[in-house]
Amino acid sequence: MIHKCAGGPIGSIQHIVFQKTRRISAGILVLGTILSGCSGPQSALDPAGEESDQVATLFWMMTGGGFFIWVCVLVLLLHASRRNRAVISGKSAATIPFWAGVVFPVIFLTALLSYALWLMPSLRPFAPGQQPSLRIEVEGNQFWWRVTYHRFAGGTVVSANEIRIPVGERVEFSLRSADMIHSFWIPALGGKMDLIPGRVNRLSLRATRTGRFRGQCAEFCGTGHAMMALPVVVMEADQFDGWLDARAKPSTGLGAELGARDLFLQHGCGGCHRIEGTDAQGRSGPDLSHIGSRLTIGAGLLDNDTENLARFIVNSGLHKPGSKMPAYPGLTDAELNSIVAWLKGLQ
Ligand code: CUA
Repeated sequence: MIHKCAGGPIGSIQHIVFQKTRRISAGILVLGTILSGCSGPQSALDPAGEESDQVATLFWMMTGGGFFIWVCVLVLLLHASRRNRAVISGKSAATIPFWAGVVFPVIFLTALLSYALWLMPSLRPFAPGQQPSLRIEVEGNQFWWRVTYHRFAGGTVVSANEIRIPVGERVEFSLRSADMIHSFWIPALGGKMDLIPGRVNRLSLRATRTGRFRGQCAEFCGTGHAMMALPVVVMEADQFDGWLDARAKPSTGLGAELGARDLFLQHGCGGCHRIEGTDAQGRSGPDLSHIGSRLTIGAGLLDNDTENLARFIVNSGLHKPGSKMPAYPGLTDAELNSIVAWLKGLQ
């Protein structure tokens, strides 16, 4: 029986079909992996801002242009390999390189370059005529972000490791660093900008749709660099005003479990962290006023829930290598639960 013979014609067909299926599956896997980078909260190709929209357009124009050139080269290669060399005249041998190697690249690449140059002015940190309606100061620290909202009505609101901005309004970011060179990048909203010790860099962004996005430090700054992220929330303008107004006052949860506040201070947490309305006024660590309402802890590292907060307090370095916060293995369960409940209540 021929079909039972593994080395026979049917066996060979099965082998070929198997090989083809494997290649197609591998192709789908590679394509899927590549395309999965085109969306999500941290994708420059899924823009949610005026600047990122232009960056994405430029990217697709350049990719399309590059692909077109690649196809042209392949066509020429195919043409050259099939043509009988003997029939090419001396004139053709000189003409083809002139048109395909000089004229075409000069015209095509000049067109791409001109497009990029035309786009550039609007990608500058401050394009002519741009008037921000809000200024946010962002200070990079190993490995977290201090965020200070400067209200044009007067006064400041200090926060950390999370940024909220109103949709449709131009926001100016003043970027500085307390230690290393960091880089501020919210791919869904715009380009990146370095935070350099001793100077202030300015970046302006305008979000075009609401949602939750993710920013990330984009310059290697030490052990915890990859874990120096921050959630970015784009809100409706009136919602944002209400949110910022609430953050300008001490948390309403300060009255609850005052014993926990004393524990917090006794263990020295107030030496590094500030909580508005308490004696905790430290500045070397993230500001914890309203920590309970933040989305993450550890600069975008863990979801802000009771369990993660407790684990982070006990040994932050275990979750975030490079963290300067000491471990607190001596805290009793009752003390830990009390402090966590109090912090979660700081809404
Ligand atoms: Cu900060 Cu990398």
